[in-house]
Amino acid sequence: MPSLQLDERQTADFEMIGNGGFAPLTGPQGSADWKSVVENITLENGEYWPIPITLAIDADVSEGETVELTSDEGKALGTLTVTEIFERDIDAEAEGVYLTSDREHPGVAALHEEGSRCVAGTYEVKALPDHEEAFMKRYLSPDESRQAFADRGWKRIVAFQTRNPIHRAHEYVTKTALEITDGLMIHPLIGKTKEGDIPAEVRMRCYEVLMQDYYPNDRVILNVFPSKMHYAGPREAVLHAIARRNYGATHFIVGRDHAGVGDFYGTYDAQKIFDDLDLDKLGIQPLFFEHSFWCNKCEGMGSGKTCPHDASEHVFLSGTKVREMLDSGEIPPQEFSRPEVAQILIDAYSRA
Ligand code: ADX
Repeated sequence: MPSLQLDERQTADFEMIGNGGFAPLTGPQGSADWKSVVENITLENGEYWPIPITLAIDADVSEGETVELTSDEGKALGTLTVTEIFERDIDAEAEGVYLTSDREHPGVAALHEEGSRCVAGTYEVKALPDHEEAFMKRYLSPDESRQAFADRGWKRIVAFQTRNPIHRAHEYVTKTALEITDGLMIHPLIGKTKEGDIPAEVRMRCYEVLMQDYYPNDRVILNVFPSKMHYAGPREAVLHAIARRNYGATHFIVGRDHAGVGDFYGTYDAQKIFDDLDLDKLGIQPLFFEHSFWCNKCEGMGSGKTCPHDASEHVFLSGTKVREMLDSGEIPPQEFSRPEVAQILIDAYSRA
């Protein structure tokens, strides 16, 4: 049997399909689904699906063949039975999904890197990829998280996607959402992110310290999300919501510039996309949050919706500014980040 080693991003897609997080997908999508996803945000059967999950490879495989798969780290995962080989239109995918063909966009750059020849089919999943212990001890599959929610008697569960350390604004939106639900699932993405994002190992230490000191553990579950980032803004917010529905969440947080990068999307575009979707059909309710910050005058967290004061009263630090502070060993103000989290980041980044 021919064999194929998946790269890191392909391994993450295999894992999401294999663990049920990307249900109803059972393997990399074919041309009919690809076209329908790009053009209509649905699978060919009409179910919502916002970003093609394809397997673009050069390998010499043919339709009808079964291929043995290994992970990027060489672990045997199972097989792919190939049902179709097709050429995707990369520019159409870039424009339809990422709303730009600019190769500076990391998602668009990834499409070009992957190439246009896609192999579709069905996975037979024998094993899932391995992760470090720090992730495995927080790893719940969709079935397991559903069970964990049921065991706790939670009916309304809000999920929180993040690719960053949790700072005060994130903490504020998660706790505000928890006020009106039974439980919160903090669900950090641990798959491949772009250069310059904070690595998942470092972020895990930040999340653990918050679980220890700032979140009520009987109301909050920290669970890892083994997917990769696309940086597709609005379309990715929908993918994130669908996946969290599969993990058993009933509500999903969408704040400012969700899954955005640079200036490619408007601050609230990732919220507006849900206006055009039938939420009953989607199966999960988005919860929208305005840009949140600490206000010196309010002496607390708020947003443009709840705080009447001038921007000069608001503590706002750009990502670049925070990075500069951490690099030089300077603790960002506690109105921006919990000191325990800042310390972990300084230990990881300080040149001193
Ligand atoms: S993302 O790529 O995973 O969206 P990030 O980890 O920064 O990036 O954001 C996680 C979630 O928190 C997203 O829903 C995002 O919109 C929201 N968010 C981030 N910062 C703020 C903020 N200052 N105010 C409100 N929501 C925010």
